[in-house]
Amino acid sequence: MTVTTSDIEKAAEVLRAGGLVALPTETVYGLGANAEDPAAVARIFQVKGRPPSHPLIVHIGDAKQLDDWVEEVPTTARLLAEHFWPGPLTLVLRRGRRVPLEATGGLQTVAMRVPDHPVAHALLSAFGGGVTAPSANRFGSVSPTTADHVRAELGDAVEFVLDGGACTVGVESTIVDATGEIPSILRPGGVTREDLEAVLGYSIAVSSASRVRVPGQHPSHYAPRARVVLVEPEKVVIEAEQAQELGHQVGVLLPTSIAGAAVKAHAVVAVPPSVAAYAHGLFGILREFDQRGCDLIVASLPMEEGLGLAIANRLRRAAGPRPS
Ligand code: TXA
Ligand code: MG
Repeated sequence: MTVTTSDIEKAAEVLRAGGLVALPTETVYGLGANAEDPAAVARIFQVKGRPPSHPLIVHIGDAKQLDDWVEEVPTTARLLAEHFWPGPLTLVLRRGRRVPLEATGGLQTVAMRVPDHPVAHALLSAFGGGVTAPSANRFGSVSPTTADHVRAELGDAVEFVLDGGACTVGVESTIVDATGEIPSILRPGGVTREDLEAVLGYSIAVSSASRVRVPGQHPSHYAPRARVVLVEPEKVVIEAEQAQELGHQVGVLLPTSIAGAAVKAHAVVAVPPSVAAYAHGLFGILREFDQRGCDLIVASLPMEEGLGLAIANRLRRAAGPRPS
């Protein structure tokens, strides 16, 4: 798990040569390429199996570099960057000329983020430029939160995997539309709505999962192989046992309110006791159900406040209709 200076140098060299590097961030692992190299960016889409209309996030090492990448930084965006960078916040701003359209799926806006992870920071400093990095998983599946998840899912398709240990936050960054003076949340994530509102001094909108703002978004995303069914906490046991009796291999994500309840199912995992631990463990738990051979996961939604908003968003999308 120790990343050496020579690993960082090698990884930066891979990026300069147009290759792909998997890198740890505080949220999830990213699949990185030189943002200014359209051929390298194209390989990201190819390796992920992601539609090219689906825009990427450009990662930079320092908030001071923001003006090099975007056309205009509204006062509100500047304020949010000052407060939350480095950290799990992504700001959507007007695209600067340096950003190729391949990275933005043809949009005139670009998503920017300064990650808060020593390995990501070291790589971005050594490389010097911007790194486009979507989560390092196949399109539609669960984001990786360890280097092993990345290797299991992408294997040889990536030239270099930097192993920085398990990601601390565990869910992706919060994406904020900051093109205007009044921002809105496009995807809830590691920075909570409450944190943003405390800095802004007013409440902000969260666009609903059904409102498709970005081309190429599927309702089902962050999805394990097993089908996910969401029910009220008090219905989890009965729902799971009925499905198990019908012949399913059921995985149960047991809500805290019924912790310790006996369930006849294939695999039972208790929801971690704090919301931060839940976010940290969520994607690993979904992967574990797949590994243990579950074909159905029964879960319920947490309170949609704080990090619970991002967890509920990921669970809803995991339970959404699958593309046929
Ligand atoms: O935490 C994260 O954000 C991780 C780590 C690796 O940084 N990255 C990540 O990337 O989650 P990805 O590609 O899996 O999700 C980024 C999302 C896209 O699905 C898209 O919806 C949104 O960011 N996005 C990117 N550019 C955008 C734009 N110009 N306008 C609106 N949404 C955009
Ligand atoms: Mg992703």
